[in-house]
Amino acid sequence: MKNYKIAVIAGDGIGPEVVAVGKKVLAEVAKLDGNFTVEFTDFPWGCEYYLKTGEMMPADGLDVLKTFDAVYLGAVGYPGVPDNVSLEGLLLKIRRGFDEYINLRPVKLLKGAPCPLKDVTAAEVDMVVVRENSEGEYANVGGRLYRGTPREVALQTGVFSRHGCERVIRYAYELAQKEHKTLTSVTKGNALGYSMVFWDEIFREVGKDYPKVKTYSLMVDAASMFFVKDPKRFQVVVTSNLFGDILTDLGAAIAGGMGLAAGANLNPERKFPSMFEPIHGSAPDIAGQGIANPLAAVWSVSQMLDFFGENLWGERVISAIETLLTEKKTLTPDLGGIANTQEVGEAIVAMLRG
Ligand code: NAD
Ligand code: IPM
Ligand code: MN
Repeated sequence: MKNYKIAVIAGDGIGPEVVAVGKKVLAEVAKLDGNFTVEFTDFPWGCEYYLKTGEMMPADGLDVLKTFDAVYLGAVGYPGVPDNVSLEGLLLKIRRGFDEYINLRPVKLLKGAPCPLKDVTAAEVDMVVVRENSEGEYANVGGRLYRGTPREVALQTGVFSRHGCERVIRYAYELAQKEHKTLTSVTKGNALGYSMVFWDEIFREVGKDYPKVKTYSLMVDAASMFFVKDPKRFQVVVTSNLFGDILTDLGAAIAGGMGLAAGANLNPERKFPSMFEPIHGSAPDIAGQGIANPLAAVWSVSQMLDFFGENLWGERVISAIETLLTEKKTLTPDLGGIANTQEVGEAIVAMLRG
């Protein structure tokens, strides 16, 4: 029988609260299926660990994680540890270290989910953002000069390699071709005349291999406007690391909120484990109250099941979320309900049992 080994990094703030629900859902799926098992190993890494040890994870952390089939992550970052230290030391280290160069983020308005846009139907918000996840604006290359003097300088360099752009763009073309969808590339070539013009060129070059895929190129400012004014123009979207980050929080806002937005950090070659997480942060403003919405974390479990090839269960988990949203009986406060995190988890499990 197949046994999926999952490394769990619940992390900080609401991370452990929502991950506890995701684990319960996944364990239930395995039980109901009966043909595979899941084995969780918890790692206490994060900001508390940092305050005790001076590191977000041990120096050999990646070697330890390497042996797992997937990483399930809650959220990283908490007041008291500088965000650049906590995220660089854990989340971004894993994304880069495991060459998880695809960040797949569905922006899909599920049945029953609230949408702040006027006169927009669920079918009109249904896209997937393919975010570059290994370089670009997040390459962490730069420096500081003349610190503490009036001449102080900070440099932050974007890194756009042909290899890095080509592989994410090709992934997006493949996805669009397979699913008979349009593909929109989002850049900012009018102002970033080196990196983004390079990306645009590669987008056109790679496109020659996919003559059937209908493509569009948009500037990120215009794309942001259309996300709100006319989201139905977008089906598959491919974009850089930073633009993908920003656009997917905007995407979350039009598709039910941060409590409903999931993301998969994929190493498509499966040379390293892929990592699944809600895209929200540790939400210090509500942490410890037991009211965090766990549905994004549950959606990321669905993405993990898809990645394992257990697609039927991936779909069933999404259906369970949709039933919950449609019935509106067990929802957390961000969705207008009065249920707590755990109750939402129990309701999802009950729906899966049928
Ligand atoms: P955030 O996503 O944590 O919170 C933004 C807002 O959304 C808050 O009002 C929060 O209460 C709400 N929210 C988020 N998730 C929710 C959920 N599941 N249910 C209900 N409400 C939810 O973003 P932030 O406040 O900018 O960041 C807080 C910390 O998290 C920072 O340290 C930041 O660096 C970190 N962060 C981590 C990740 C990650 O680990 N993937 C992502 C984003 C931010
Ligand atoms: C996300 C987060 C991270 C990112 C931060 C916490 C580094 O915002 O996963 O969207 O920008 O990628
Ligand atoms: Mn983000």
